[in-house]
Amino acid sequence: MATTFRYQIPVEQTQWIFDGRADTAFTWEYEDGREKLLTLYDKGKKQQWDAATRIDWSQDLDPENPMMLDDRAVQIWGSPIWERLTQKERTAVRYHLQAQSLSQFMHGEQGALIATAKIVQTVPSADAKFYAATQVMDEARHVEAYARLLHEKFEIAYPITPGLKALLEHGVMLNLVADRYPKGIEEH
Ligand SMILES: [Fe+2]
Repeated sequence: MATTFRYQIPVEQTQWIFDGRADTAFTWEYEDGREKLLTLYDKGKKQQWDAATRIDWSQDLDPENPMMLDDRAVQIWGSPIWERLTQKERTAVRYHLQAQSLSQFMHGEQGALIATAKIVQTVPSADAKFYAATQVMDEARHVEAYARLLHEKFEIAYPITPGLKALLEHGVMLNLVADRYPKGIEEH
């Protein structure tokens, strides 16, 4: 079933496109200064994992508390409203809050996927692009794992919150990562 039908709050559209222009750097030099970054790239290649097989998806989660979280993690725990809730209502709150927070992780991971793809686009050297590509694959796996968890186990999802959306939209994360990456990766 498409995610659209699992959202607990209606989403007006299932696409979100905004202008996130960045310089695109091609390079014609494929050999210079390779060693350090290629070591990281090789490491990245060897450490690839498959979210479909590495995680045991056959396990059933507790329907009353899928993430096995202490009730103190519930934002309204201890409040007069919480105290008034029946056990059944508390289970529903727990379930929806956990799905809500996992949904934000899922959307955030998509942000990371796009941010790392942008790094591939903007870093100048081929080696940095190679290594950044392994990060892109890693973020794709994170989106895959959260999406599968929500679809198969929770069977519900929540749309992106305005706060997270604003963070991604204003490109705070994307630009910061892209600007700092060339220096950051040398220091790795
Ligand atoms: Fe991630």
